[in-house]
Amino acid sequence: DGRRVVLGIESSCDDSCAAICVAPTTYGEDIISASSERLRNSDGEAELVSSIVLKQDHSLTSGIQPLIAANSHAASLPHAIVAALREAKSKGFIASITSPVEIDAIAVTQGPGMGASLASGLGLSKMLSALWERPLVYTHHMAAHALTPFLRTTTTTTARPHAPTLAFPFLTLLLSGGHTLLVLCRGPRSFKILATTNDDSIGDAFDKVSRGLKIDVDWASTSPGAALEAFVTQRTEGGEQETEDKTASKRWSLPVPLKNKPEFSYSGLKSAVQRQIEELERVHEGQIPDSDRRSLARAFQLAAFAQLESKIRMNLSSEKQGEAIKALVVSGGVASNEVLRKRLRGCLDDMGRGDVELHFPPISLCTDNAAMIAHAALLDYQTTFDLTRSPRAKWSLED
Ligand code: KG4
Ligand code: ZN
Repeated sequence: DGRRVVLGIESSCDDSCAAICVAPTTYGEDIISASSERLRNSDGEAELVSSIVLKQDHSLTSGIQPLIAANSHAASLPHAIVAALREAKSKGFIASITSPVEIDAIAVTQGPGMGASLASGLGLSKMLSALWERPLVYTHHMAAHALTPFLRTTTTTTARPHAPTLAFPFLTLLLSGGHTLLVLCRGPRSFKILATTNDDSIGDAFDKVSRGLKIDVDWASTSPGAALEAFVTQRTEGGEQETEDKTASKRWSLPVPLKNKPEFSYSGLKSAVQRQIEELERVHEGQIPDSDRRSLARAFQLAAFAQLESKIRMNLSSEKQGEAIKALVVSGGVASNEVLRKRLRGCLDDMGRGDVELHFPPISLCTDNAAMIAHAALLDYQTTFDLTRSPRAKWSLED
Protein backbone atom coordinates (compact mmCIF):
# COMPACT_ATOMS: atom_id res chain seq x y z
CA ASP A 1 0.00 0.00 0.00
CA GLY A 2 2.94 2.32 -0.64
CA ARG A 3 4.31 1.88 2.85
CA ARG A 4 7.03 -0.20 4.44
CA VAL A 5 7.00 -1.67 7.93
CA VAL A 6 10.33 -2.52 9.56
CA LEU A 7 11.08 -4.33 12.80
CA GLY A 8 14.30 -2.98 14.36
CA ILE A 9 16.50 -4.87 16.82
CA GLU A 10 19.32 -3.24 18.81
CA SER A 11 21.69 -4.91 21.28
CA SER A 12 25.08 -3.25 20.79
CA CYS A 13 25.58 -2.22 24.39
CA ASP A 14 23.54 -3.16 27.45
CA ASP A 15 19.96 -2.15 26.53
CA SER A 16 17.78 -4.78 24.83
CA CYS A 17 15.66 -2.92 22.28
CA ALA A 18 13.03 -3.69 19.66
CA ALA A 19 10.84 -1.28 17.69
CA ILE A 20 8.53 -1.05 14.72
CA CYS A 21 8.57 1.87 12.30
CA VAL A 22 6.60 2.57 9.16
CA ALA A 23 7.30 4.95 6.27
CA PRO A 24 6.29 5.49 2.65
CA THR A 25 8.33 3.41 0.18
CA THR A 26 9.65 6.70 -1.25
CA TYR A 27 10.86 7.89 2.17
CA GLY A 28 14.62 7.53 1.58
CA GLU A 29 14.51 9.07 -1.92
CA ASP A 30 12.44 11.98 -0.64
CA ILE A 31 14.95 12.79 2.05
CA ILE A 32 17.97 12.40 -0.18
CA SER A 33 16.51 14.60 -2.90
CA ALA A 34 15.69 16.99 -0.04
CA SER A 35 12.82 18.77 -1.64
CA SER A 36 11.58 20.62 1.42
CA GLU A 37 8.22 21.12 -0.21
CA ARG A 38 7.70 17.40 -0.49
CA LEU A 39 9.04 16.78 2.99
CA ARG A 40 6.72 19.33 4.49
CA ASN A 41 3.85 17.20 3.30
CA SER A 42 3.17 15.16 6.40
CA ASP A 43 2.32 12.04 4.38
CA GLY A 44 6.01 11.69 3.67
CA GLU A 45 7.13 11.06 7.22
CA ALA A 46 8.36 8.01 9.08
CA GLU A 47 6.17 6.98 11.97
CA LEU A 48 7.12 5.19 15.14
CA VAL A 49 4.63 2.39 15.92
CA SER A 50 6.25 0.87 19.00
CA SER A 51 9.59 1.08 20.78
CA ILE A 52 10.65 -1.10 23.69
CA VAL A 53 13.85 -0.60 25.71
CA LEU A 54 14.62 -3.17 28.41
CA LYS A 55 17.43 -1.88 30.63
CA GLN A 56 19.92 -4.04 32.44
CA ASP A 57 20.15 -4.10 36.19
CA HIS A 58 23.54 -2.68 37.13
CA SER A 59 23.02 -2.78 40.86
CA LEU A 60 24.93 -6.05 41.25
CA THR A 61 27.92 -5.24 39.05
CA SER A 62 29.99 -2.14 38.57
CA GLY A 63 29.71 -0.88 35.02
CA ILE A 64 28.99 -2.97 31.97
CA GLN A 65 30.52 -6.44 31.75
CA PRO A 66 30.49 -8.00 28.27
CA LEU A 67 29.55 -11.54 29.28
CA ILE A 68 26.81 -10.43 31.66
CA ALA A 69 25.47 -8.03 29.02
CA ALA A 70 25.36 -10.81 26.43
CA ASN A 71 23.54 -13.17 28.81
CA SER A 72 21.12 -10.44 29.68
CA HIS A 73 20.32 -9.82 26.00
CA ALA A 74 19.73 -13.53 25.53
CA ALA A 75 17.10 -13.34 28.28
CA SER A 76 15.58 -9.93 27.48
CA LEU A 77 15.64 -9.45 23.71
CA PRO A 78 12.94 -12.07 23.01
CA HIS A 79 10.65 -10.20 25.44
CA ALA A 80 11.47 -6.85 23.86
CA ILE A 81 10.64 -8.18 20.38
CA VAL A 82 7.37 -9.76 21.48
CA ALA A 83 6.39 -6.59 23.34
CA ALA A 84 7.09 -4.44 20.25
CA LEU A 85 4.98 -6.81 18.11
CA ARG A 86 2.14 -6.82 20.68
CA GLU A 87 1.99 -3.05 20.69
CA ALA A 88 1.97 -2.96 16.88
CA LYS A 89 -0.88 -5.46 16.91
CA SER A 90 -2.87 -3.49 19.46
CA LYS A 91 -2.50 -0.43 17.22
CA GLY A 92 -3.69 -2.39 14.20
CA PHE A 93 -0.44 -2.32 12.23
CA ILE A 94 -0.09 -6.09 12.19
CA ALA A 95 -2.77 -8.75 12.43
CA SER A 96 -0.76 -11.54 14.01
CA ILE A 97 2.27 -11.69 16.28
CA THR A 98 3.44 -15.13 15.18
CA SER A 99 3.28 -14.46 11.45
CA PRO A 100 3.22 -10.71 10.92
CA VAL A 101 2.94 -10.66 7.15
CA GLU A 102 2.81 -6.86 7.20
CA ILE A 103 6.48 -6.63 8.25
CA ASP A 104 8.65 -6.04 5.21
CA ALA A 105 12.13 -6.38 6.74
CA ILE A 106 14.09 -6.87 9.93
CA ALA A 107 16.73 -4.24 10.67
CA VAL A 108 19.50 -5.16 13.07
CA THR A 109 22.54 -3.39 14.51
CA GLN A 110 25.64 -5.06 13.08
CA GLY A 111 28.04 -2.74 14.93
CA PRO A 112 29.90 -1.01 16.41
CA GLY A 113 29.53 -2.36 19.94
CA MET A 114 30.33 -5.34 22.11
CA GLY A 115 30.75 -8.46 19.98
CA ALA A 116 28.81 -10.90 22.12
CA SER A 117 25.95 -8.43 22.64
CA LEU A 118 25.71 -7.73 18.91
CA ALA A 119 25.70 -11.48 18.23
CA SER A 120 22.61 -11.87 20.37
CA GLY A 121 20.59 -9.40 18.26
CA LEU A 122 21.97 -10.75 15.00
CA GLY A 123 21.05 -14.33 15.95
CA LEU A 124 17.45 -13.52 16.73
CA SER A 125 17.11 -11.34 13.63
CA LYS A 126 18.36 -14.12 11.39
CA MET A 127 15.94 -16.54 13.02
CA LEU A 128 13.03 -14.20 12.27
CA SER A 129 14.30 -13.58 8.74
CA ALA A 130 14.34 -17.31 8.03
CA LEU A 131 11.00 -17.95 9.74
CA TRP A 132 9.06 -15.06 8.18
CA GLU A 133 10.93 -15.13 4.85
CA ARG A 134 11.72 -11.46 5.13
CA PRO A 135 15.08 -9.80 4.34
CA LEU A 136 17.51 -8.25 6.78
CA VAL A 137 18.92 -4.73 6.78
CA TYR A 138 22.31 -4.67 8.53
CA THR A 139 22.59 -1.30 10.27
CA HIS A 140 25.38 0.91 11.65
CA HIS A 141 24.58 2.02 15.21
CA MET A 142 26.19 5.47 14.97
CA ALA A 143 24.72 6.17 11.54
CA ALA A 144 21.32 5.36 13.04
CA HIS A 145 21.97 7.88 15.85
CA ALA A 146 22.96 10.52 13.28
CA LEU A 147 19.86 9.94 11.12
CA THR A 148 17.36 9.94 14.01
CA PRO A 149 16.44 13.65 13.70
CA PHE A 150 14.59 12.84 10.47
CA LEU A 151 12.03 11.04 12.63
CA ARG A 152 10.54 14.50 12.80
CA THR A 153 7.13 13.69 14.14
CA THR A 154 8.70 13.66 17.58
CA THR A 155 11.64 16.05 17.16
CA THR A 156 11.44 19.51 18.67
CA THR A 157 12.92 22.27 16.57
CA THR A 158 13.79 25.68 17.99
CA ALA A 159 10.60 27.63 17.56
CA ARG A 160 10.93 29.81 14.49
CA PRO A 161 8.24 30.59 12.03
CA HIS A 162 8.51 28.65 8.77
CA ALA A 163 11.39 26.55 10.01
CA PRO A 164 12.75 24.60 7.06
CA THR A 165 12.80 20.84 7.39
CA LEU A 166 16.06 19.04 8.01
CA ALA A 167 18.06 18.18 4.89
CA PHE A 168 21.57 16.99 4.01
CA PRO A 169 24.22 18.21 4.61
CA PHE A 170 23.90 18.97 8.31
CA LEU A 171 26.13 18.92 11.36
CA THR A 172 25.39 16.73 14.34
CA LEU A 173 26.79 16.93 17.85
CA LEU A 174 26.31 13.68 19.76
CA LEU A 175 26.83 14.36 23.47
CA SER A 176 26.25 11.47 25.85
CA GLY A 177 27.94 9.43 28.52
CA GLY A 178 29.58 7.38 25.76
CA HIS A 179 30.13 9.80 22.88
CA THR A 180 31.41 13.31 22.24
CA LEU A 181 31.25 13.63 18.49
CA LEU A 182 30.86 16.32 15.86
CA VAL A 183 29.89 14.74 12.56
CA LEU A 184 29.17 16.12 9.12
CA CYS A 185 26.27 14.15 7.65
CA ARG A 186 26.25 14.36 3.87
CA GLY A 187 23.92 11.45 3.19
CA PRO A 188 22.64 8.21 4.73
CA ARG A 189 26.03 6.58 4.08
CA SER A 190 28.28 9.55 3.92
CA PHE A 191 29.64 10.80 7.20
CA LYS A 192 32.76 12.72 8.15
CA ILE A 193 33.93 12.78 11.76
CA LEU A 194 34.99 16.38 12.37
CA ALA A 195 35.85 15.98 16.04
CA THR A 196 35.79 13.29 18.64
CA THR A 197 37.13 13.14 22.17
CA ASN A 198 40.74 12.38 22.89
CA ASP A 199 39.97 11.03 26.33
CA ASP A 200 36.76 11.31 28.43
CA SER A 201 33.27 12.08 27.17
CA ILE A 202 31.55 15.35 28.05
CA GLY A 203 28.80 13.46 29.92
CA ASP A 204 31.40 11.69 32.03
CA ALA A 205 33.01 15.06 32.90
CA PHE A 206 29.61 16.39 34.04
CA ASP A 207 29.05 13.27 36.14
CA LYS A 208 32.48 13.44 37.83
CA VAL A 209 32.37 17.18 38.51
CA SER A 210 28.82 16.93 39.84
CA ARG A 211 29.93 14.20 42.23
CA GLY A 212 33.12 16.10 43.17
CA LEU A 213 31.06 19.16 44.10
CA LYS A 214 28.69 16.93 46.12
CA ILE A 215 25.63 18.11 44.22
CA ASP A 216 22.56 16.15 45.33
CA VAL A 217 21.10 13.84 42.69
CA ASP A 218 17.76 12.15 42.75
CA TRP A 219 18.85 9.08 40.76
CA ALA A 220 15.30 7.95 40.12
CA SER A 221 14.40 11.03 38.12
CA THR A 222 17.57 12.75 37.00
CA SER A 223 21.31 12.46 36.30
CA PRO A 224 24.37 14.11 37.89
CA GLY A 225 24.75 16.33 34.81
CA ALA A 226 21.17 17.58 34.97
CA ALA A 227 21.55 18.12 38.73
CA LEU A 228 24.63 20.26 38.08
CA GLU A 229 22.70 22.39 35.60
CA ALA A 230 19.84 22.84 38.07
CA PHE A 231 22.30 23.74 40.83
CA VAL A 232 23.94 26.42 38.68
CA THR A 233 20.59 27.80 37.61
CA GLN A 234 19.48 28.53 41.21
CA ARG A 235 21.02 31.95 40.89
CA THR A 236 21.96 34.38 43.59
CA GLU A 237 19.12 36.79 44.27
CA GLY A 238 19.06 39.53 41.63
CA GLY A 239 22.23 38.25 39.98
CA GLU A 240 22.73 38.96 36.28
CA GLN A 241 23.44 35.76 34.40
CA GLU A 242 25.97 37.31 32.06
CA THR A 243 27.96 39.05 34.79
CA GLU A 244 27.96 35.90 36.87
CA ASP A 245 29.22 33.90 33.88
CA LYS A 246 32.07 36.33 33.30
CA THR A 247 33.04 36.52 36.96
CA ALA A 248 33.03 32.75 37.33
CA SER A 249 35.05 32.10 34.17
CA LYS A 250 37.64 34.70 35.18
CA ARG A 251 37.89 33.51 38.74
CA TRP A 252 38.63 29.85 38.02
CA SER A 253 40.27 30.17 34.59
CA LEU A 254 39.59 26.56 33.58
CA PRO A 255 41.28 25.15 30.48
CA VAL A 256 39.65 25.11 27.07
CA PRO A 257 42.20 22.84 25.39
CA LEU A 258 43.19 22.16 21.82
CA LYS A 259 41.76 25.41 20.49
CA ASN A 260 42.73 24.80 16.90
CA LYS A 261 42.82 21.02 16.85
CA PRO A 262 39.98 18.87 15.58
CA GLU A 263 39.57 17.07 18.92
CA PHE A 264 37.69 17.44 22.16
CA SER A 265 39.34 16.72 25.49
CA TYR A 266 37.64 16.58 28.87
CA SER A 267 40.11 14.92 31.21
CA GLY A 268 42.23 18.07 31.69
CA LEU A 269 39.15 20.12 32.54
CA LYS A 270 37.94 17.42 34.92
CA SER A 271 41.21 17.34 36.84
CA ALA A 272 41.51 21.14 36.89
CA VAL A 273 38.10 21.31 38.59
CA GLN A 274 39.11 18.51 40.95
CA ARG A 275 42.23 20.44 41.98
CA GLN A 276 40.14 23.55 42.70
CA ILE A 277 37.76 21.48 44.81
CA GLU A 278 40.65 20.07 46.85
CA GLU A 279 42.09 23.55 47.37
CA LEU A 280 38.71 24.92 48.47
CA GLU A 281 38.22 22.02 50.86
CA ARG A 282 41.61 22.74 52.38
CA VAL A 283 40.90 26.46 52.78
CA HIS A 284 37.39 25.94 54.16
CA GLU A 285 38.25 22.85 56.20
CA GLY A 286 35.98 20.55 54.24
CA GLN A 287 32.90 22.83 54.09
CA ILE A 288 32.98 24.68 50.76
CA PRO A 289 30.49 27.58 50.79
CA ASP A 290 27.59 27.15 48.36
CA SER A 291 28.49 30.34 46.53
CA ASP A 292 31.92 28.91 45.65
CA ARG A 293 30.51 25.54 44.65
CA ARG A 294 27.98 27.24 42.42
CA SER A 295 30.53 29.56 40.87
CA LEU A 296 32.94 26.68 40.12
CA ALA A 297 30.13 24.56 38.66
CA ARG A 298 29.13 27.47 36.46
CA ALA A 299 32.69 27.98 35.22
CA PHE A 300 33.02 24.24 34.51
CA GLN A 301 29.81 24.19 32.49
CA LEU A 302 30.91 27.16 30.40
CA ALA A 303 34.39 25.71 29.78
CA ALA A 304 32.87 22.36 28.76
CA PHE A 305 30.62 24.09 26.23
CA ALA A 306 33.33 26.47 24.98
CA GLN A 307 35.09 23.52 23.32
CA LEU A 308 31.94 22.58 21.46
CA GLU A 309 31.38 26.16 20.34
CA SER A 310 34.94 26.55 19.07
CA LYS A 311 34.75 23.38 16.96
CA ILE A 312 31.44 24.45 15.49
CA ARG A 313 32.91 27.83 14.61
CA MET A 314 35.95 26.18 13.06
CA ASN A 315 33.94 23.89 10.87
CA LEU A 316 31.22 26.29 9.82
CA SER A 317 33.66 28.98 8.82
CA SER A 318 36.61 27.02 7.43
CA GLU A 319 35.03 24.02 5.77
CA LYS A 320 34.17 24.49 2.14
CA GLN A 321 30.81 22.92 2.81
CA GLY A 322 30.17 25.29 5.74
CA GLU A 323 28.02 27.50 3.55
CA ALA A 324 25.78 24.62 2.53
CA ILE A 325 25.10 23.55 6.10
CA LYS A 326 21.69 24.69 7.20
CA ALA A 327 21.19 22.71 10.39
CA LEU A 328 22.93 21.66 13.56
CA VAL A 329 21.42 18.65 15.33
CA VAL A 330 22.36 18.31 18.99
CA SER A 331 21.55 14.98 20.61
CA GLY A 332 22.42 12.81 23.61
CA GLY A 333 21.79 13.36 27.31
CA VAL A 334 23.88 16.55 27.55
CA ALA A 335 21.82 18.13 24.75
CA SER A 336 18.96 18.62 27.21
CA ASN A 337 21.04 21.34 28.92
CA GLU A 338 19.26 24.70 28.45
CA VAL A 339 22.44 26.73 28.90
CA LEU A 340 24.02 24.78 26.04
CA ARG A 341 20.97 25.33 23.84
CA LYS A 342 21.09 29.08 24.40
CA ARG A 343 24.84 29.31 23.91
CA LEU A 344 24.75 27.38 20.63
CA ARG A 345 22.02 29.65 19.29
CA GLY A 346 24.07 32.67 20.40
CA CYS A 347 27.23 31.24 18.85
CA LEU A 348 25.55 30.70 15.47
CA ASP A 349 23.89 34.13 15.45
CA ASP A 350 27.18 35.68 16.46
CA MET A 351 28.86 34.11 13.42
CA GLY A 352 26.23 35.58 11.16
CA ARG A 353 24.72 32.13 10.73
CA GLY A 354 21.23 32.85 11.90
CA ASP A 355 20.15 30.71 8.95
CA VAL A 356 21.42 27.54 10.66
CA GLU A 357 18.53 25.81 12.44
CA LEU A 358 19.10 23.99 15.71
CA HIS A 359 17.35 20.65 16.17
CA PHE A 360 17.07 18.74 19.44
CA PRO A 361 15.65 15.24 19.07
CA PRO A 362 13.85 14.05 22.21
CA ILE A 363 16.11 12.31 24.71
CA SER A 364 14.21 9.01 24.42
CA LEU A 365 15.40 8.81 20.81
CA CYS A 366 18.96 9.87 21.69
CA THR A 367 19.70 7.14 24.20
CA ASP A 368 20.06 3.68 22.71
CA ASN A 369 16.84 2.41 21.15
CA ALA A 370 15.66 0.30 18.23
CA ALA A 371 13.40 2.96 16.70
CA MET A 372 16.52 4.59 15.28
CA ILE A 373 17.61 1.25 13.80
CA ALA A 374 14.27 0.61 12.08
CA HIS A 375 14.21 4.24 10.95
CA ALA A 376 17.75 4.13 9.50
CA ALA A 377 16.74 1.02 7.55
CA LEU A 378 13.68 2.78 6.12
CA LEU A 379 15.86 5.70 5.06
CA ASP A 380 18.56 3.53 3.51
CA TYR A 381 16.66 0.41 2.51
CA GLN A 382 19.44 -2.07 1.58
CA THR A 383 17.98 -5.50 2.10
CA THR A 384 19.64 -8.91 1.94
CA PHE A 385 18.82 -12.55 2.65
CA ASP A 386 22.47 -13.18 3.59
CA LEU A 387 22.44 -14.75 7.05
CA THR A 388 26.21 -15.16 7.28
CA ARG A 389 27.25 -11.66 8.34
CA SER A 390 28.88 -11.36 11.74
CA PRO A 391 29.16 -8.54 14.31
CA ARG A 392 31.43 -5.62 13.46
CA ALA A 393 32.53 -4.60 16.96
CA LYS A 394 34.78 -1.86 15.57
CA TRP A 395 33.23 -0.07 12.63
CA SER A 396 34.01 3.53 11.80
CA LEU A 397 31.27 5.86 10.63
CA GLU A 398 33.52 6.77 7.74
CA ASP A 399 33.85 3.19 6.37
O1 KG4 B 1 22.65 10.04 26.17
P1 KG4 B 1 22.57 9.76 27.61
O2 KG4 B 1 21.26 9.97 28.31
O3 KG4 B 1 22.96 8.28 27.92
C1 KG4 B 1 24.16 7.61 27.88
O4 KG4 B 1 25.21 8.14 27.52
O5 KG4 B 1 24.06 6.42 28.27
O6 KG4 B 1 23.65 10.67 28.35
C2 KG4 B 1 23.80 10.67 29.74
C3 KG4 B 1 24.75 11.77 30.12
C4 KG4 B 1 25.13 11.70 31.59
O7 KG4 B 1 26.53 11.87 31.69
C5 KG4 B 1 24.36 12.87 32.21
O8 KG4 B 1 24.99 13.37 33.36
C6 KG4 B 1 24.35 13.86 31.07
O9 KG4 B 1 24.13 13.05 29.93
N1 KG4 B 1 23.29 14.86 31.20
C7 KG4 B 1 23.50 16.21 31.29
C8 KG4 B 1 22.23 16.82 31.41
N2 KG4 B 1 21.29 15.82 31.39
C9 KG4 B 1 21.95 14.65 31.25
N3 KG4 B 1 24.63 16.92 31.26
C10 KG4 B 1 24.53 18.26 31.37
N4 KG4 B 1 23.35 18.92 31.50
C11 KG4 B 1 22.18 18.24 31.52
N5 KG4 B 1 21.02 18.91 31.64
ZN1 ZN C 1 24.43 4.68 21.15
